[in-house]
Amino acid sequence: MGKKIKIGALVSGGGSNLKAIIDACESGKIDAEMAFVGSDNPAAGGLSRAAQHHIPTFVVDYAGIIKEFKDDPRGFRLPDDFDPEEAFARQTLFDVRDDRQKARAFLISRAAAEHRLLGHMAGFAFDLLVLAGFMRKLSPYIIDHIDQNSALPRIMNIHPALLPAFPGTDGYGDTVRYGCKVGGCTVHFVDYGEDSGPIIGQRAFAIEAGDTIDAVKSKGLKLEWELYPACIQLYAQNRLEVVKETHALPQGTVVRRRVVKIKPSRPLR
Ligand code: GAR
Repeated sequence: MGKKIKIGALVSGGGSNLKAIIDACESGKIDAEMAFVGSDNPAAGGLSRAAQHHIPTFVVDYAGIIKEFKDDPRGFRLPDDFDPEEAFARQTLFDVRDDRQKARAFLISRAAAEHRLLGHMAGFAFDLLVLAGFMRKLSPYIIDHIDQNSALPRIMNIHPALLPAFPGTDGYGDTVRYGCKVGGCTVHFVDYGEDSGPIIGQRAFAIEAGDTIDAVKSKGLKLEWELYPACIQLYAQNRLEVVKETHALPQGTVVRRRVVKIKPSRPLR
């Protein structure tokens, strides 16, 4: 077994993925240990789960911060190291040509909430931050504070669909409503877009005639509980690398993309 990495997690809800990760740490299935669990939701089941395992927890009141900004945008205090213009230039969540106001409100209020998250996280050493059902998008502000090496980002997310299909908040529902015959889940590194970062791993399952959204969700979650610890273990073993690839298509279009290369495991001596 190698050296253990330290993991921080962010959750918004019940935290069944968090449970799978904690169990994998405690049973020694992955070379990792939990450093903290944070949430935007004081009632998140994941927080009590973490407390049962004596993992430190904290909450940042996103809803209160967003309301504070809406109520008094001029009086709203920005983090000292936040430059809204720079954040505009980098973000890819909004088309700022037609959504400038919305983008501005998003970037400013999120930077304030993320500044508080970073304040809590500063109390812990961690190698990797995992989003385990965290239902807030991260803005460039927090991503740039955590990621310093583009070849090895430090934030992972799990998404309930086979990305790049169905980004957003209801991956399994969108999969069923589209009439897909296969569903799945994806673990990816987080970038500035919505569920658009380099893909680390995916698992797929068949959708049978008559499967309800709940049935699909339960098939998907079972695979999520295997996939997330497996991807974290690849990280712990230092087997992940993000590389830039360029492909020239026959019509002259050039496709550029950051993708994850999984390095082979070291042969046993
Ligand atoms: C999981 O299905 C996860 O993939 C999804 O939320 C659920 C959380 O369940 N995440 C997203 O939709 C992120 N956009 P859990 O709290 O039981 O782990």
